[in-house]
Amino acid sequence: MGVTFEEFRAGLEEREQRRKLLSSNGRPFFVLISQQFSRSEIESLCDTATAIRRLDRQLDGRDFLRNVLRGQRIMNLFAQPSTRTAESFVAAADKLGAISRIVSDLRTSSFSKGESVEDSVRTLSSFFDAIVTRHSDDEFAMRAAWALSQTGRPIPVISAGSGKSQHVTQSLLDIYTLRYSFSQRGGVDGKNVVIIGDIARNRAARSLAYLLTRFEKPRIFFVSPAAFAPDDELLSYLRRHEVENTTRSALGPLLREVGHDIDAIYVTRLQQEWDKGGGIPDSGERGSSEEFVMEPSYRKLVRPDCVLMHPLPRINELPESWEDHPGFVVWRQVRNGMWIRAALFAAVNGADAEIRHRALRLGLLE
Ligand code: CP
Repeated sequence: MGVTFEEFRAGLEEREQRRKLLSSNGRPFFVLISQQFSRSEIESLCDTATAIRRLDRQLDGRDFLRNVLRGQRIMNLFAQPSTRTAESFVAAADKLGAISRIVSDLRTSSFSKGESVEDSVRTLSSFFDAIVTRHSDDEFAMRAAWALSQTGRPIPVISAGSGKSQHVTQSLLDIYTLRYSFSQRGGVDGKNVVIIGDIARNRAARSLAYLLTRFEKPRIFFVSPAAFAPDDELLSYLRRHEVENTTRSALGPLLREVGHDIDAIYVTRLQQEWDKGGGIPDSGERGSSEEFVMEPSYRKLVRPDCVLMHPLPRINELPESWEDHPGFVVWRQVRNGMWIRAALFAAVNGADAEIRHRALRLGLLE
């Protein structure tokens, strides 16, 4: 029997229901929120990403990868601007042999004539094998997944950024990057992470905080303007998962107090586009005030092995002078976006175990 959209949305709150609604045959089918991933699924995705990255260095490996999704067609429906996410999804699909199409101007589609999300995605499911979607509406991807789940021929929906709510694939690439950075330091467990930005409306920051709950005893220090402090839903989830956290209103005093204990700093820009409803902010208004900027003078306050991250795009909050800091991994994050998204496509299609086994046989994976 079918479920209403309200029932579908409510079901995502509870672990077992969430698994039933978002998974198929024990693998992710709809990819909407960080909370849907267990620790073992995260580890397995990261291993698959590493296997793909290493296989891609070999001619035979590249040929093998190109057959993984051969013949599949992927629709990338981007109703908000994107450089990294859109292009890395296309590059990831290319690596696995799938064909991608990007629609980035919804005025060219029948959405502009008032067509419903339900009819639109059902139509797209006739021509494509998966839909990747970014939208300013927090619930667009969720509604698309629900609509397709009610049909006899559902196809996977992967959120590439849902309004102010979540950016699940960004958080997966961020955790993959952290895991690599901490590979010689006991992994992500027990690490002290600073997350800077307007957390309440920054989907990358929120998704990362949710995903960190899958690790043992992380501590999160949010630094955020009071008006955009972490929302109650996120804070209550962190409490339920016993993740110690605190919110500060400026970065400098925090780093002067505990800078040498910090293992990673995740900087984000202030999301000023939301002041105008999600469009593009006026250039005069862009940029963070000094409380939320990694000032070059903070260098002596952080350890040389502190990992410095940013989901990009950046404005003024992580100046270029940090690029020669040994912990600066922002460009690695960008590359990892392609590998983790390829791993996700493989997992959704049930092809990930074969990729890992091949890499293991070739000694490319421990
Ligand atoms: N990190 C990120 O989502 O970048 P884009 O907006 O360019 O996709």
